[in-house]
Amino acid sequence: MRAYPAPDTAAVRELLLDWCGADADDADDAVRALGSLDGAALELADRLYQSIAADMGGKKWLGWPGPPAGQPMLSLFPLLAAVPDMLKFHGDRGVDEDLSRRVLADIGEKLRLNRRIYGRPGLDVGNWFTGHVRGALYQLGRLQFCVEGPDPKPFAGMHIRGEGGPLTLDAVRDSVEWAMEFLPAVFPERYAGPEDLEFRCESWLLDPQLRDWLPERSNIPGFAALFDLLNEGDPAGNRTDLWRFVFGRPEDTPVDQLPQDNTLQRSVMAGMKAGVVWRNRYGRLDLAKLGL
Ligand SMILES: CC(C)(COP(=O)(O)OP(=O)(O)OC[C@H]1O[C@@H](n2cnc3c(N)ncnc32)[C@H](O)[C@@H]1OP(=O)(O)O)[C@@H](O)C(=O)NCCC(=O)NCCS
Repeated sequence: MRAYPAPDTAAVRELLLDWCGADADDADDAVRALGSLDGAALELADRLYQSIAADMGGKKWLGWPGPPAGQPMLSLFPLLAAVPDMLKFHGDRGVDEDLSRRVLADIGEKLRLNRRIYGRPGLDVGNWFTGHVRGALYQLGRLQFCVEGPDPKPFAGMHIRGEGGPLTLDAVRDSVEWAMEFLPAVFPERYAGPEDLEFRCESWLLDPQLRDWLPERSNIPGFAALFDLLNEGDPAGNRTDLWRFVFGRPEDTPVDQLPQDNTLQRSVMAGMKAGVVWRNRYGRLDLAKLGL
């Protein structure tokens, strides 16, 4: 087992500001949170770091416990400690430093999202970033791609950050084209070429019911139409992702207190009031629909 390279305050600040694109407020709060870690929290941070170090180059993301009460930023520290491991992995596989920075920018975004949802600093789904720092996930243009299906040729999961602009078909096509070149180059032991790749996505964005409620100009139904759906989704619906990604509120926020600031929020709300049960859907990208 490797010693846990606990980041000090200077490293936390530098990594967050220079590599993760975090806001100064979040960097200040992370430095404060680091100073408040007790023995049990440090032990947990060490265990989480070890789970990353033991699985560099592994697929998908790891199952981690949520942050302990009173330490909503704890998972940040083992992730930052693993950045040098990620840079080594990227360097060995010919991944540009610019892409290392881009993938880490998701941490800065999710720190901002946590502040927006909970009204305080935190990183609630720290385990998501174990895909980033273990070298499984990459930001290629608008989209993220993660090596995540079963062996021997795991499909590439497609993920969509909130920051990065509209989800136009051109942006999607450019990203997928990039991934078709990038993934076989970085993982030659998995993919001989683009023909070995299959792209999948699971998201609230793929619910075909959205088409009936969003205006014509919305990019979301066009994105959803690129996929052949592989399941029916949970008939009980999907509150977690909508409250998080559409409304930016904690999951226990009552419906009548959700914000109604833009077309998407108003459309999703109108559907709920009419009895629509929104579902996460899972699909396989039809490359022909992108002309690829
Ligand atoms: C996916 C995403 C980039 C699509 O954005 P887009 O291309 O601008 O989407 P649309 O064309 O449908 O935008 C239409 C309207 O909805 C708004 N909108 C889109 N996504 C929104 C979101 N997640 N939250 C709040 N408003 C949103 C737009 O501002 C626009 O409103 P307006 O007409 O009042 O100005 C966007 O929904 C997003 O950032 N989502 C968060 C990340 C996410 O959900 N990822 C998937 C996780 S499974």
